[in-house]
Amino acid sequence: MTPLGRLLARRIAAEGPLPVAAVMAEALAHEAHGYYQVREPFGAAGDFITAPEISQMFGELLGLWLGAVWQSMGSPARVILGEFGPGRGTLMADARRALARVPGFPLHAPVHLVETSPRLRALQIETIRAPVVHHDTTDGLPSDAPLLLLANEFFDALPIRQAVFTGEAFHERMVGLDRDDGLIFGLAPEPLSPHLLPPHEAPEDGAVLEWSPASIAIAAELGRRLAAQGGTLLAIDYGAAHRGFADTLQAVSRHRYAEILTTLGEADLTAHVNFAHLAAAATAQGARAFGPVTQGDLFRGLGIDLRARRLAASQPAARDQIYAAHHRLTAPDQMGSLFKALALCGAATPTPPVFDAI
Ligand SMILES: C[S@@+](CC[C@H](N)C(=O)[O-])C[C@H]1O[C@@H](n2cnc3c(N)ncnc32)[C@H](O)[C@@H]1O
Repeated sequence: MTPLGRLLARRIAAEGPLPVAAVMAEALAHEAHGYYQVREPFGAAGDFITAPEISQMFGELLGLWLGAVWQSMGSPARVILGEFGPGRGTLMADARRALARVPGFPLHAPVHLVETSPRLRALQIETIRAPVVHHDTTDGLPSDAPLLLLANEFFDALPIRQAVFTGEAFHERMVGLDRDDGLIFGLAPEPLSPHLLPPHEAPEDGAVLEWSPASIAIAAELGRRLAAQGGTLLAIDYGAAHRGFADTLQAVSRHRYAEILTTLGEADLTAHVNFAHLAAAATAQGARAFGPVTQGDLFRGLGIDLRARRLAASQPAARDQIYAAHHRLTAPDQMGSLFKALALCGAATPTPPVFDAI
């Protein structure tokens, strides 16, 4: 058991079983042992590689997408450029480099980053090399200008609740103790009240329902702000376009799946994103939702084929690496199909590029 596992086992012995969401929150953000507080997860030597770390093309093309949305809104003099969960800051650094080529884009304004890890905040300041304002939550974002926001692999890191259908009702999945005081998954004895559950189809025995109250709350707050302030949030993450029942909670360590309860705090713990839940929460507040479209379709629509050819022509020594990155980002058996993009927009913000063509 990890140090965090031992800490949670003591807490469970004293207080009783914990919901999956509480365990996931501690595993990722516990101030002493949480994964993002202590580990360097990114890159070949870390636990996983995210798209911005694979190639500069990812951030550059998303920067141009934001620039096109900005132009479609009439090129407002003031915008709030920002990102949720920026990791090492690579995506924003690449996006800003591309935005510098969009005539008149107000790049002098500070970048707004929603990030909880102090260690990653310091890295982001180093990478982005521009004035940065960090926020703990969405609430801190300014409310006096249109929003231009990115979120790559952010929502998958927010805690989920799980409920299992036992033939009569849904029971919340909990983490308790086995006879040897090891951590074990189980079900709450009392059924969950149906009004606490998200909309779902008729379940079969054993069906697992997942939802992320934290993600839904952020999408609702963004929907409210986008409706009032205008602009867009582009969220890219992994998940099915139409979700049924599934247990998607997964731990990843050193580029491999790991056992969840024996690696708490030492492996990345995520779940597939339910795009329909995010879209419903935002549109209920007056925003519009587009997609999800696959990452492959989004980047082909943004011209990644041409960008890769140009980049390869200017850096012949890196040619193979550039085409390998292009393949990894767009091929259906790589990140091209599993990863999807959802655009949330203000009611008066025009339908964003690529989403208007798919
Ligand atoms: C999987 S990483 C993705 C990093 C980056 N977007 C990328 O693509 O490389 C998740 C990021 O979200 C941050 N994060 C996790 N939970 C958060 C929360 N509740 N609020 C703000 N940031 C959070 C992490 O610290 C990290 O920066």
